[in-house]
Amino acid sequence: MIRITVDGEPVQGREGQTIAGVLVGAGRTAWRTAQTGGRGVFCGIGVCHDCLVSVNGVEGVRACRREAVDGDRVEREVRP
Ligand code: FES
Repeated sequence: MIRITVDGEPVQGREGQTIAGVLVGAGRTAWRTAQTGGRGVFCGIGVCHDCLVSVNGVEGVRACRREAVDGDRVEREVRP
């Protein structure tokens, strides 16, 4: 098991999961705020950029492409 934080809240996942996989596995389906409302995974293959988050202070990370690593600090983003 791995543990990451999302906006300071601990969330557990499994090694090898993407950040999006950890979030969806924890019951979260939307984690980015856009003009059209809450967004999460749409394409799941790194094309649409709906799943963007900040990871360890780096903005614009595609949660569907980034493997989650124990201790990652994930923060939701507000993007139009
Ligand atoms: S869900 Fe489309 S880029 Fe991540």
